[in-house]
Amino acid sequence: PPSLHEAFEGKFLIGGTLSDSMLENASDPGFAIVSKHFNSLSPENCMKWGNMNPLLDQYEWELSDRFVEYGHNFGQEMVGHVLFWHSQTPDWVFEDENGAPLSKEALLERMRERARLMAKRWGDRIKIWDVVNESIEGDGSWRKSKYQQILGDEFTELAFRIAMEELPTDAILLYNDYGMTDPGRRDAVVAMIQDFKSKGIRIDGVGMQGHWEMSYPALSEIEDSLTAFAATGVKVHITELDLDLLGRGKFFGANVDIERLKADPATNPYPDGNLPPSEEKRFAERYAEIFDVLLKHHEKIDRVTFWGVSDLTTWLNGFPVEGRTNFALLFDRQFKPKPAFYRVLETARKR
Ligand code: G3I
Repeated sequence: PPSLHEAFEGKFLIGGTLSDSMLENASDPGFAIVSKHFNSLSPENCMKWGNMNPLLDQYEWELSDRFVEYGHNFGQEMVGHVLFWHSQTPDWVFEDENGAPLSKEALLERMRERARLMAKRWGDRIKIWDVVNESIEGDGSWRKSKYQQILGDEFTELAFRIAMEELPTDAILLYNDYGMTDPGRRDAVVAMIQDFKSKGIRIDGVGMQGHWEMSYPALSEIEDSLTAFAATGVKVHITELDLDLLGRGKFFGANVDIERLKADPATNPYPDGNLPPSEEKRFAERYAEIFDVLLKHHEKIDRVTFWGVSDLTTWLNGFPVEGRTNFALLFDRQFKPKPAFYRVLETARKR
């Protein structure tokens, strides 16, 4: 098939991720897809604080070094994912040697040290950085995380100040979140960008993760967010695009019986990985509609990154419960392009 990133040349970069298991296995069939179809790469897990630095004095550089080496050799625009995220950050980060909460100053010093180490090691090769992930709730309030407990509502601002001071001056600094089409979060992100700009704090873009579903979000909400973010003068990156065909809504909310849902065959309706043609078509149509919108607004968008490579290893096989056979990406479990791949290609040809 033709190359995806070539089809979108002049519009936006097309990215994917390298998982830890790919980084551990140079002959993973996913590499054929990555080298042909993507011109941007994100590390799915290895650069997270807990992966890179699981204990105070323990650093795991190997997989991240391999990621950067691979991306560099193949001329990929690389993303540093992620400097500061409340999730996947070990407890030791927030505690002193006696297990007591760190002071504000001590935590900021630890954060600065992390930014400094990453800048020193990869700053010349990684251009785009997810500085803060998911610090804003859907209603627009600051997330009550351990960062927030110690640093207060200024956590995100302080993190961007550190990134601005420690990363190269030409680094592209992003705020990255899911549910960026929810009006409460959208408005809060816009207000935050305006606030940062008025204080001289650099923020170059927003990452809309794009963990979307078959009927969420509405296309009009995607457009509204692209327009609102671009109006603040930053670029939009779609950082973690996938479509959860099986959906997850039923797993959330009060009084949900997770065990019953897990046991229900309807939770995993296509365990052998064969999707009925009508579903395959519906999935492809939804991808095409989304790309039509993204292309319509391409001058606002620098990059569209898929969160994974193929359905075989998408994180959605394990979310919100383990053991699902989910359908999320453009390549199937045999690493073959799906109908959605061709529909997405067609959208590029039309424009
Ligand atoms: O590798 C270990 C394996 O050795 C172990 O047996 C197994 C048992 O749980 O865990 C494996 O690690 C898992 C890892 O994915 C690799 O599969 C972790 O438990 C699991 O927590 C981890 O999930 C990742 C998740 O972030 C949490 O870090 C997903 O792969 C990754 O796709 C997901 O990505 C996030 C973005 O970073 C931020 N935005 C949301 C997105 C989706 O949650």
